[in-house]
Amino acid sequence: MYRIAVLPGDGTGPEVVAEGLKVLQAAAQKTGVKYELTNYDLGGERYLRTGEILPDGVVDELRQFDAIFLGAIGHPDVPPGILEKGLLLRLRFELDQYINLRPVKLYPGVECPLRDKGPKEIDFVVVRENTEGLYSGAGGFQYKGTPHEVSTQVHVTTRFGAERAIRYAFELTRNRNKDKKLTLCAKTNVLTFVHDTWWRAFNEVGEADYPDITRDYAHVDATTMWMVKNPEWFDVIVVENMFGDIITDLGAMIQGGLGVAAGGNINPGGVSMFEPIGGSAPKYTGMNVVCPIAAIGAAGMMMEAIGEAATAQRIEGAVEKALASGEIKSLSAGKMGMGTREVGDFIAMLAAV
Ligand code: IPM
Ligand code: MN
Repeated sequence: MYRIAVLPGDGTGPEVVAEGLKVLQAAAQKTGVKYELTNYDLGGERYLRTGEILPDGVVDELRQFDAIFLGAIGHPDVPPGILEKGLLLRLRFELDQYINLRPVKLYPGVECPLRDKGPKEIDFVVVRENTEGLYSGAGGFQYKGTPHEVSTQVHVTTRFGAERAIRYAFELTRNRNKDKKLTLCAKTNVLTFVHDTWWRAFNEVGEADYPDITRDYAHVDATTMWMVKNPEWFDVIVVENMFGDIITDLGAMIQGGLGVAAGGNINPGGVSMFEPIGGSAPKYTGMNVVCPIAAIGAAGMMMEAIGEAATAQRIEGAVEKALASGEIKSLSAGKMGMGTREVGDFIAMLAAV
């Protein structure tokens, strides 16, 4: 019996989480996987009502689960940063989910904005470091509000943090067994301190322990160019936190949009948290129009991570069948030709066959 914590969160989070859980239930019924869900009402509404963002006790409770399933964090009535730092980033950091795993995979039947590129060309994985870099929170103001205002936001890289992300990426590249190529995405020509640490860690680890993996390097600006021009060059990309944030939104677009892009915040030795990578989409909240496939895919990744590969495959297979069927007209909000719940029903039906 697995224990899964569910954090539907803000905006359209609850709507897509419901569909993810619907499909999970349909698949798990077939494979015999048993789990119980515990709901947490964390997010903007609770903060506005009670002032609470993430009580300490809740973090310790969350450590006890096998996995966490998250909808979205971000509320239009809460100033930027409060929920993001206080809830999402705090969970990533305190649960030491040091990998943000973001597959970029174009499924057959999904419209791609890149001409002449299809499922064969768009199939790679981004391993984003998830606890350091510009997200460290270090920095501050001096003379705030005066003409002499100084602000700093410190990029923190540790050898330990870079190396564990790099090792995870090498292992993944080996197990994926596709092109056996790992690309380091950084900016070594400008960030000559922090990315020099990444560069040396990448080469030292690769040379010592992964001679079977081809090492490749691309500056982040060039990476965005290649992702559009030649996405087939990528197998696995390892990247620091902020650049990883940026390139995975581009990745989401080339795989068909935020409606299909799923990710996992992974602590290989602890509790991991799975989420659709898009945000809370306040303007679509409660309208039954957003695409739930990213959340459904995140539920699949969650099953894979806890060791229930058959359930994961059943979920991914159902998503693939639904997308290939042509029944879903588009993956953009309001243009699917059916509602959020109907897409969930359709995929749940396919997951139960
Ligand atoms: C993401 C999001 C978050 C991030 C925000 C909401 C803090 O953009 O998961 O990609 O920057 O990591
Ligand atoms: Mn992002």
